[in-house]
Amino acid sequence: MPTEKILVRGKIYNPTSPSQWEYYTNGAFLMNALGRIEAVGEYPLLKQIQGITMTLDFSDYLILPGLIDVHTHLPQLPIRGKTAGTLLDWLNRYAFPVEEAFADTVYAESLSRLFFESLKANGTTTAMVYSSVHEASTNTAFEAAQYSGMRVIMGKVMMDQHAPQSLLENTKESILASERLAKSWHGENNDLIRYAFTPRFALSCSQELLEAAGDLHRRFPESYIQSHLSENLTEIEEVEKLYGNQYSYTQIYQHTGCLGPRTVMAHGIHLSSEELVLLLTSQTRIAHCPTSNFFLKSGFFNLPAFRKYHIPFALGSDIGGGPDLCLFRVMRAMDEMQLKNHGFVSPMEAIYQGTLGGAKVLSLEDETGNFQVGKSADFIVLNTQNLNCLETAEDQSIEEILSQLVYLGDSSQVIKTFIRGQEVYSKPEADFSTEFIKFQTHPPNVLQSPPLQTR
Ligand code: GUN
Ligand code: ZN
Repeated sequence: MPTEKILVRGKIYNPTSPSQWEYYTNGAFLMNALGRIEAVGEYPLLKQIQGITMTLDFSDYLILPGLIDVHTHLPQLPIRGKTAGTLLDWLNRYAFPVEEAFADTVYAESLSRLFFESLKANGTTTAMVYSSVHEASTNTAFEAAQYSGMRVIMGKVMMDQHAPQSLLENTKESILASERLAKSWHGENNDLIRYAFTPRFALSCSQELLEAAGDLHRRFPESYIQSHLSENLTEIEEVEKLYGNQYSYTQIYQHTGCLGPRTVMAHGIHLSSEELVLLLTSQTRIAHCPTSNFFLKSGFFNLPAFRKYHIPFALGSDIGGGPDLCLFRVMRAMDEMQLKNHGFVSPMEAIYQGTLGGAKVLSLEDETGNFQVGKSADFIVLNTQNLNCLETAEDQSIEEILSQLVYLGDSSQVIKTFIRGQEVYSKPEADFSTEFIKFQTHPPNVLQSPPLQTR
């Protein structure tokens, strides 16, 4: 039995609810050889624990739980920021063609590697991901997920109607391919990898396919379902034309067995109060994707209603509907997109929704999301000094530090990313962006600069 005990030292921020947290300015946590947290607290106390074999000293840096992205599309990485009107036009113009390209497994391999490396460089340690309809390329994407060391819940898109011919599947084949992939990958890499059955949305799935996705999910314990719900008004009209208006959009998923505590529906913007109640009673989770809602002009997430109904939700980048990989950008947009509904989002709540809130939405709260004893050490080391040109971390409150992180932060703050105690990303030294700090502490010495050359 390995006995290694590593002490990680830094400014530890530990979210415990949307409005509560612990913060240790001179903090530390202890992790064992399996990458599990054994103690969290003040460094002067923890350093006295017997048997510490190594200390990782990040005392100048802020340490946060790893970020959790509960909705993103791997094949859409190349089309980020390419605008083409609202959802259905954008899908036809950009999303479907770039997913067609994913049929090529060589291309799929290099894109998948880039995708997971980019997530880690942006501080994301867990992601719920859509691949494309292609079975072979989804296998390739899972291989890249495994190689990355990330915690990944992923699935092959299922689609048997209302999409370009080249992306349409035979219903039975879609079901069989999904089952084969779940058998191969669900629980792999020591349970870091899980399978999500992925009927794209009601518009592109027959009733038979939706029902099959629900059945498959029930046959694979701890698997998931992911889909889209009520994102855009034209989409909702089209769903009504297809399924009739005696059922709401949410009821279509309910009647086909697709709702439940391991279902993550993206968006949920234009929902009636009956639909909100249905989400609550079925314990279905929502991926809130504010950068995408802005980019595709889909509408405003009704945060006050979600709070009132206590429906679990967390943040998704929705690449490429959302342009930003980095969840700090998504957190900022969460607040910005509340202008209409007058919902105020504190930086603490935004950080919670991108960490512990995400873990809860994915039923992974016993495993990741914060620094609770017994959980995996999934964490990121951040340089927040480069966000503030006047004060050091010691001069600021944690509320001020996190506010600047949420409103100004991106991948430039991410120095290192760890999953289950293993370092999976480290920023190249030259990018540490500490020049400004050096400048503060060591003003340029004019006497040492070379003399001016005169003729
Ligand atoms: N609805 C169905 N497919 C998609 C997609 O790829 N992106 C977004 N934002 N919404 C969808
Ligand atoms: Zn999406």
